[in-house]
Amino acid sequence: MADNRPIGVFDSGLGGLTVVKELKRLLPNENIIYFGDTGRVPYGTRSNDIVKRYAREDEAFLLSQNVKMIIAACGTVSSVAYMTAKELPVPFIEVVTPAALAAANATKNNKIGVIGTSVTVGSRSHARAILKTLPDAVIVANACPLFVSLVEEGWISPEDPVTNEVAKRYLEPIVNADVDTLIMGCTHYPALRPILQKIMGDKVTLIDPGLATAMQVKDYLTKANALAESKTDDKYFVSDRANTFSKVAKILMGESIEDKVEQIDIFKYI
Ligand code: DGL
Repeated sequence: MADNRPIGVFDSGLGGLTVVKELKRLLPNENIIYFGDTGRVPYGTRSNDIVKRYAREDEAFLLSQNVKMIIAACGTVSSVAYMTAKELPVPFIEVVTPAALAAANATKNNKIGVIGTSVTVGSRSHARAILKTLPDAVIVANACPLFVSLVEEGWISPEDPVTNEVAKRYLEPIVNADVDTLIMGCTHYPALRPILQKIMGDKVTLIDPGLATAMQVKDYLTKANALAESKTDDKYFVSDRANTFSKVAKILMGESIEDKVEQIDIFKYI
């Protein structure tokens, strides 16, 4: 039986759109409701309790939209607030486990780099998931907190001198560790992929949590017989002004979503 209800996806801001992009590619019939908490971005520098509270509110909003599943398209929420999933009446998919498994499969020398927000790196969520399948893996992680602001600001051109300089500094310990695989452990980071690849070198495999997660969603919905059969318009909601969001979204997704973005009051949902 088909389930045409939308999939709910949320992030602190624009980053989750890198997951939406992969979902739309792999599951073109699915309807998406996206919430970007642009009024409270970034999440990755806050305490675990605040991230959990925000996650619960974001999930409450998506549930009010009659979603059939919720995806935390945010490495930070996935790292510390995945337990809020137990309270949900719909299936929940996070972005850390699929990315960690994809990295464990991809590495040949068992040396894996992880970059993410301070909360994500501090939680060691990727390391724990990798070591379950690959107990000998050497994991080198570094927090890159400025990346989220650079992406939200739209400074994502491969030639941007400031972003290149910041990335070089953050990636230095990972380049020196001779990893052959790098997890972009924050969903904002695939927006910087060309810069990260250039610094890491062509031989390093970059793992995009969006692709790994979209594959898991496809698998789940197929097995549950819950794929959608009829497509309506996707909807995008934000908790602050939509201008910059729409502008950068166009670069990230390759399509204009300007007329589909609406501002909501997230404080109404809990
Ligand atoms: N995209 C979020 C993540 O994956 C951004 C974190 C933030 O808001 O700091 O962690």
